[in-house]
Amino acid sequence: MTQAAFQLRAATGADLSAIAALSQLVWLHTYTPEGINADVADYVLQEFTTANTRQRFEDPNQHYLLAEADGKLIGYLLLQLNAACEADAGCSAEIARLYVIPQFAGKGAGRALLSKARRFLQSRGHHALWLTVYAGNQAAIGFYRHCGFTHTGDTFFQLGEQQHANLILQWRF
Ligand SMILES: CC(C)(COP(=O)(O)OP(=O)(O)OC[C@H]1O[C@@H](n2cnc3c(N)ncnc32)[C@H](O)[C@@H]1OP(=O)(O)O)[C@@H](O)C(=O)NCCC(=O)NCCS
Repeated sequence: MTQAAFQLRAATGADLSAIAALSQLVWLHTYTPEGINADVADYVLQEFTTANTRQRFEDPNQHYLLAEADGKLIGYLLLQLNAACEADAGCSAEIARLYVIPQFAGKGAGRALLSKARRFLQSRGHHALWLTVYAGNQAAIGFYRHCGFTHTGDTFFQLGEQQHANLILQWRF
């Protein structure tokens, strides 16, 4: 695999609009291969805003790790440190988001962000993390399994009237 040159760092207040824009880009690319309806458009435009990103950034229980190439954002991971896992109440560190822009996928940024998140969590006494992933997102599920995650439960994501099956995955370290 070709490894891209990228740098990892924590987010600052100057990164919030770039994080919001990247989130819209990656979310739409990942989840709307057949086009965009109003529920999806409303969700993306209301959820991935600079204001919402700022709210998360200012929450001491949330932590953004960024990946950059040539000084530009190419991916990020968002940790939520006080989110009890439905499948394991003792596990409270969640990956709320892990997004790499399509042009940089497959170049090691996702794994590098995961490794940095693990070190960050270990330094704070955590020994596991969890996340939910859309059951149809086979590319991400394959990535997480390859990186050591196991399937420990099931849940769903509500969008408009529809419920979308999600897997709960955990990584113990
Ligand atoms: C899923 C995602 C985070 C992965 O990040 P990435 O930077 O593309 O992945 P990496 O290049 O770091 O891959 C790391 C390893 O996983 C492997 N891998 C990646 N996808 C895989 C798959 N579907 N099946 C098996 N292995 C996979 C790679 O070969 C690589 O292996 P290696 O380190 O042993 O050489 C990224 O592609 C992405 O943002 N996708 C769109 C958004 C998304 O679905 N996010 C997750 C939502 S929960």
